Amino acid sequence: MADRINSVKTSFFGKGAISLLPAELKKMRVRRALIVTDSFLYETGVADQVGGALLEAGVEYAVYYRVKPNPTIDVVNECINAALKLKVDLLVAVGGGSAMDTAKAVSIVAANGGRVEDYEGVDRSKEPGLPIVAVNTTAGTGSECTVFYIVTDPARGSKMAMVDANCMVSIAINDTDFMMSMPPALTAATGMDALTHAVEAHFAKNANPMTDKDALWAMQVIFDHLRRAVKNGKDEEARTMMAYAEYSAGMAFSNAGLGMVHAMAHALGGHYNLPHGVCNAVLLPYVMEFDETVPELKKRFKGIAEAFRLNCSEAQASREVIRAVQGLSREIGIPKTLKELEKVKPEDFGELAELALHDASMSQNYLMPSAQQVIGVYRRAYEGRP
Ligand SMILES: [Fe+2]
Repeated sequence: MADRINSVKTSFFGKGAISLLPAELKKMRVRRALIVTDSFLYETGVADQVGGALLEAGVEYAVYYRVKPNPTIDVVNECINAALKLKVDLLVAVGGGSAMDTAKAVSIVAANGGRVEDYEGVDRSKEPGLPIVAVNTTAGTGSECTVFYIVTDPARGSKMAMVDANCMVSIAINDTDFMMSMPPALTAATGMDALTHAVEAHFAKNANPMTDKDALWAMQVIFDHLRRAVKNGKDEEARTMMAYAEYSAGMAFSNAGLGMVHAMAHALGGHYNLPHGVCNAVLLPYVMEFDETVPELKKRFKGIAEAFRLNCSEAQASREVIRAVQGLSREIGIPKTLKELEKVKPEDFGELAELALHDASMSQNYLMPSAQQVIGVYRRAYEGRP
């Protein structure tokens, strides 16, 4: 079978990477940009700091600052209207996954017409989207380097997953300076999201040698640096390495796919409006316990154990890896159970399992679980009994 690898044309990393943007923008011959961000990054001046780099390249800009976590269809529509009214030829996402996913949705609809709902699924657009520059402030969703974007549909109480090579950003900027002020809880949740991307990409049915390389390297770096980044946000080396690792994890899952953790997390996050990273982090060890029962994944667990530098046999690998993931989660303050997330109600698990089974990420899982198996994982994650 042949494998396709999509990647971003230009990516910049490290402290001060934003300074490289003006020269790159001049090559694109763009004139008017819409910065897509949230009110916090607007009010704290981060959006205008990026705007300074646009002005340096002769690009004028306006700011849309009403992006919210788990962006909804309404937010996307409002942003599309702003982009069309201003006749912009560039979108500049400033933020984490929510800002970048909003910009990707706007980019596709602005170039292809119709409604954002029309693009749910795989490769549904015809035309390349409006160009996007993604200035990432978390580490992270990997959205700056993936073919995925997620939009919440409140009417259905769920998330729509779009997988579309036309939504890829043109320039990705992972400037460590923009990540230094992330609070510990956000650093922990987004870091565990990145770890989940790497694990799921390694277990995905379409994993290939290139995506395995990206996934295993990301796991190793996250395992070595996430604790440090959470404990001391000013640890520049830890922040920089986390930025590389989350990008590497993003490349892995963008090209191999995700799986059951994300499918279940999308259902949870869409239903109760819970943070994406936290949902993944809580679910990850419980889904891994389900994975442990699959003989084909034994070797892959051993690969993860090696990435974590755990000294164990292939037979012991899954146990040791799950224990290591739980240990990391405890150290960085991730809740142990879904019960601790308060809003979650066990009587909803049947409905959530149905949503998860129909999520695009589930189709990339190494096998399709039954509804009863998904409900069982939700229950164990709720009770905390592995
Ligand atoms: Fe994710």
